[in-house]
Amino acid sequence: MTPGSSPTTDNSAATSALPATKIGVRIAGSGMFVPQRVTTNADLAKIVDTSDEWISQRTGIKERHHVDDGMTVREMATNAVRQALENASIEPSQLDMLFCATLSPEMCTPSTSARIVADLGAVPAGAVDISAACSGFVYGLNMAASMIQTGHYKTAAVVGVEALSRLTNWDDRGTCILFGDGAGAAVVTADEDTSRGCLFQTVASDGSSWHNLYCPTNENDLPENGDGATFTGKFNTLQMNGREIFKFAVKTMEESIDRALDAAGLQPSDLAMILAHQSNQRILQSARKRLGVNEDKLYINIDRYGNTSAASVPICLHEVREAGRVKDGDHVLFVALGGGLTWATSLWRV
Ligand code: ACO
Repeated sequence: MTPGSSPTTDNSAATSALPATKIGVRIAGSGMFVPQRVTTNADLAKIVDTSDEWISQRTGIKERHHVDDGMTVREMATNAVRQALENASIEPSQLDMLFCATLSPEMCTPSTSARIVADLGAVPAGAVDISAACSGFVYGLNMAASMIQTGHYKTAAVVGVEALSRLTNWDDRGTCILFGDGAGAAVVTADEDTSRGCLFQTVASDGSSWHNLYCPTNENDLPENGDGATFTGKFNTLQMNGREIFKFAVKTMEESIDRALDAAGLQPSDLAMILAHQSNQRILQSARKRLGVNEDKLYINIDRYGNTSAASVPICLHEVREAGRVKDGDHVLFVALGGGLTWATSLWRV
């Protein structure tokens, strides 16, 4: 597609409704925060029947960070956004809006985003919480880019943050080995260079398969007829049918990447970097091999952080930016999928 024209989506109705825009969008800054406490595979082998060998081979995870009592999701997110603002040399007062993607907020109201805005000193920026599990950051990035391209808003922060350790059944070896805590953030802003911005985006969901990954609060939340869903017996903890999520993840990640490249008229070799949700190293490597791209184009840090859900993609973004692995003008593809079920892609010329 022509750089600087409207971004396209999978949805033809939405595409035709979008006005042509002459506004470029730039990822101006990034940041991250992970709690200090590290839980290794050996630590987990002391509490459930597992081993470093099993976890490493099946998931690629070696360790993850876990938050201590007293630190909130809001604080982790605020730390990440503050760093992203400093990184972008943008003052909190310049923020027009903030999106916070999380499935582990402290409270259902007020929104986590409204309190982050206040903590940053960015009042009265708009504040939106996004509940799209692991896809939430990419959902937010797409919304921020699209809103800036309308010309009504100039600068937005998008943060993905999780304290999944607080929603973990520590007796369930199928899930407790996977999840980590942390936050990652990006600051996006309007740019004079109209060739920069989001070239293609998708947000998608299929709630009919919700029971493959859910967090029930009481018996009324349990799937009525089972549907092959698991329930490990503890409410307020994540329940996952790992095999079904694995199949969904492999298929959806490959299809999503293909569709984004087709829509933008790009080849896999045109991508400087793929920043994908860190769900399982085997899922990531399967997508990479099928695409035929070199190992250095698919960023992997699941070994150090585990699956941090909404925080995983922005943590990847911050690390590749810090390492100088993306430069102005590069094509970068964001892709994520998770509970809901949800999935999202965002293809940028950064
Ligand atoms: N240690 C040792 N053995 C284990 C462990 C463990 N931690 N967990 C499961 N096993 C056993 C199982 O009990 C099973 O034993 P059995 O054959 O005697 O019944 C065996 O290992 C194989 O179990 P599977 O579930 O088939 O293992 P699999 O290879 O599928 O790996 C995993 C499980 C890692 C969970 C994988 O299915 C996966 O990664 N799924 C996707 C998870 C994901 O991407 N989630 C993303 C969304 S998260 C979000 O949105 C918050």
